[in-house]
Amino acid sequence: MFAKVNSLGLNGLKAFAVLVENSVEKGTPDFKISGLGDASVQESRQRVLAALGNSGFDAGKYRVTVNLSPADVKKSGSAYDFPILVSLLISMGEVQPPPDNSAFIGELSLSGELAGTNGVLPMAASAKEQGIKHLFLPEINVKEASLVRGINVYGVKSVAHLAALLNGGEKLTPAPPYIPDDSCYSKAADFADVKGQENIKTAIQTAAAGFHNLLMIGPPGSGKSMLAKRIPGILPPMTFEESIETTSVYSVAGMLDGKAPFVTSRPFRAVSHTASAVGIIGGGKTPMPGEISLAHNGVLFLDELPEFRRDVLETLRQPLEDRRIVITRAQGKASFPCKTMLTAAMNPCPCGNYGSEGKCTCTPAMITKYLGKISRPVLDRIDIQIEVGKVSYSELRSDEKGLSSAQMRENIEKARELQRKRFAGTDILFNGEIPPSKLREYCPLDDSAEKFLQSTFDNLGLSARAYDRILKVARTVADLDGEEIISRRHISKAVQYRSLDRKYWQ
Ligand SMILES: Nc1ncnc2c1ncn2[C@@H]1O[C@H](COP(=O)(O)OP(=O)(O)O)[C@@H](O)[C@H]1O
Ligand SMILES: [Mg+2]
Ligand SMILES: [Zn+2]
Repeated sequence: MFAKVNSLGLNGLKAFAVLVENSVEKGTPDFKISGLGDASVQESRQRVLAALGNSGFDAGKYRVTVNLSPADVKKSGSAYDFPILVSLLISMGEVQPPPDNSAFIGELSLSGELAGTNGVLPMAASAKEQGIKHLFLPEINVKEASLVRGINVYGVKSVAHLAALLNGGEKLTPAPPYIPDDSCYSKAADFADVKGQENIKTAIQTAAAGFHNLLMIGPPGSGKSMLAKRIPGILPPMTFEESIETTSVYSVAGMLDGKAPFVTSRPFRAVSHTASAVGIIGGGKTPMPGEISLAHNGVLFLDELPEFRRDVLETLRQPLEDRRIVITRAQGKASFPCKTMLTAAMNPCPCGNYGSEGKCTCTPAMITKYLGKISRPVLDRIDIQIEVGKVSYSELRSDEKGLSSAQMRENIEKARELQRKRFAGTDILFNGEIPPSKLREYCPLDDSAEKFLQSTFDNLGLSARAYDRILKVARTVADLDGEEIISRRHISKAVQYRSLDRKYWQ
């Protein structure tokens, strides 16, 4: 007896079609799985046999050959359990074949229940593209799959439940489309708690409005970590497409909540300096997204930047530029998106007091070594660099109300509205993403701005990359001012946001 069933495999964030074929013959009991399945796929054998046995079906008396095609693509994971089991049940004559264009994904427990699996959202999206009309998967993954419209999704509890569904004991009713909550602001402490520091808050507001990378340098206790922790509360809401992208990353990483499997607010990933390169960048035998991809469409926060290993920081260069990370394996490439707003904080020297009159106890060599952990190319990719000073006693005691998160959100929303109009019909969402070829079009300067930028460029000996970044930040500063034409004051602010690298790294 022979049967075939559709399924899907996953490579990075991309899913591909897999055909599960089997033949079942009476004879010496045997069970082979061919088609480049790794150890986790080979283990399916035990789970499928146990799940069948415990559900009242005996496959132990047959000679079973399963083949997963295409045979030249490596397959991994436990989500082939379910299609293998279904194909066996069909061959054994225990269930009716499913409707045409059906596909199956899911892991089995030994007792015959279906367990949730990772990567369902990208697999469901890909299934639809391939003309699959009916998708059978574990109940817990139903909502996630039903984010994809135009495909019937059926939640299956167990082997017995599947048999009832295919043999007509229970009506096949597709799950209703999942309508997630609207995209929203993250909950975070309020910037109003931070006394003084209005310039710093304005710089942070600019970073969040245009999605610019941000570096804060200042002595210990100046409030850098306190400020950074408040950023999630002002990051603008995500578009539906952004939510789908970020949710796909969390789906593959197995980090979705089954009850509300949709990432509705921009992620904020605070990463420890003890994290490995793979943990930050992604990788592994079966490629998994790293922190930089979990921060996709949100913030990657690296506190105490010089504590990170230099080689780890260097590996961030390419993904910060390309906004995508490609993991190369013998079997091919996997890629994950990583459009992230890098936010970093650091002390200016090992003792932390460099720059404050007479208090620093470090030797010049120590300071150079410390700052040297952050290379020029990494610095070059950080659009907004600000020096955070300690708040004064009088400011700390003052009752004066400074910028609150609510006010910052309002300002950012206005700047976002201008960006939405500017970039309508393109795939750019923020000023921070303007490609070099479009800078002239999107960043018109008035005469004095033009002259000022030219003299700054000559006087400071700016690199082309720094020039691009100054223009983009000036674009956001002007947007926050509600102005379409960039003027001298906007450029001046943007240049000021780039002056620390000269002060500390010269
Ligand atoms: N501007 C400020 N307003 C209110 N509290 C502050 C301010 N700056 C620092 N603090 C207090 O000092 C603590 C230490 O700040 P922290 O963010 O850890 O500094 P850093 O990360 O720069 O070393 C904060 O938790 C907060 O209680
Ligand atoms: Mg800190
Ligand atoms: Zn020092």
